[in-house]
Amino acid sequence: MKIAVLPGDGIGTEIVEQAVRVLKALDLKLEMETALVGGAAYDAHGHPLPEATLQLAKEADAVLFGAVGDWKYDTLDRPLRPEQAILGLRKNLGLFANFRPAICYEQLVGASSLKPELVAGLDILIIRELTGDIYFGQPRGRRVSPDGHFPGAEEAFDTMRYSRPEIERIARVAFEAARKRSKRVTSVDKANVLETFQLWKDVVTEIGKEYPDVELDHMYVDNAAMQLVKAPKKFDVVVTGNMFGDILSDAAAMLTGSIGMLPSASLNSSNQGLYEPSHGSAPDIAGKGVANPLATILSAAMMLRFSLNQVAAADRIESAVQKVLAQGLRTPDIYSEGTTKVGTREMGDAVLKALG
Ligand code: NAI
Ligand code: MG
Repeated sequence: MKIAVLPGDGIGTEIVEQAVRVLKALDLKLEMETALVGGAAYDAHGHPLPEATLQLAKEADAVLFGAVGDWKYDTLDRPLRPEQAILGLRKNLGLFANFRPAICYEQLVGASSLKPELVAGLDILIIRELTGDIYFGQPRGRRVSPDGHFPGAEEAFDTMRYSRPEIERIARVAFEAARKRSKRVTSVDKANVLETFQLWKDVVTEIGKEYPDVELDHMYVDNAAMQLVKAPKKFDVVVTGNMFGDILSDAAAMLTGSIGMLPSASLNSSNQGLYEPSHGSAPDIAGKGVANPLATILSAAMMLRFSLNQVAAADRIESAVQKVLAQGLRTPDIYSEGTTKVGTREMGDAVLKALG
């Protein structure tokens, strides 16, 4: 089993180091090879996603990714900015299904932005389509407006687009995932006003007929945003498009206490995947040794579960994380009175010890 390890920038290097230590301690036959990506790759090779890094990622069974980006690259042209590396990897590996579980661990209930009773036991899975929608639809651009409310004015436009096969494959991913959980899927759309999401709703309904054991309901995205902060436990698996998923999954992140706790997986049709924490490179705390490595360690667990078929090892990591939380160890982002503040490396040490 070959893993491409791409730490990236900022806290990326610090948190990936801890996840690699945990993976090494598992006694699995894992071959790990590290490469530069993002700003670090730009500094060394003049490109955020060098050919050698892309090749390594393509040949690997899975990619463990840290984070990319730093303020110092803000002046670069778009194709050279560190964040383009993650878009390039998604595109080249065909990663269309983004899994973002939002779990509120018992010990962190008090750190949530919602009342404890609303989040105690929260365990939802947001599945975001990652390659279509308004983020990639053509045509897009800027022009002199040929019509509309202000003909002759400067305008900008994007195109929201989904094809039937794109919707079919993400719907199947969601129904399959639901089968392994509580057998409920909520498809989030805006079918009341958008053609794109009328097709979305029709296709998800059709695919749903192949899964009579899974309960499907549909919700408009504005209502979904409201329900997510009003009664988040009503959801189990949520499937939605690229833009709605981007926004809803960040909102869901805050229900769990800290973005430093949230792993993610992006998969293609052959279950090859890229695993990364949901957060960015956090330049404000980089180099200080205080970043929370748990999102990355939990991403490594997802990698073992989804791409490498090592379910027992994934379980071991996840229970180790629960154990260190129960021991009261907290990085500053999840610290509260009465718990013990630790740094990135100490948190890694504790997880290693708790692996048993
Ligand atoms: P960010 O997620 O890096 O940071 C937001 C806030 O959360 C900061 O206050 C940070 O200190 C805190 N934070 C994030 N991860 C943490 C952790 N593990 N432990 C403790 N605190 C943590 O988002 P921001 O500041 O908007 O972006 C910083 C850079 O990261 C930008 O260049 C951005 O483009 C990039 N970025 C990269 C992503 C990726 O590589 N997939 C995703 C999101 C942002
Ligand atoms: Mg986002």
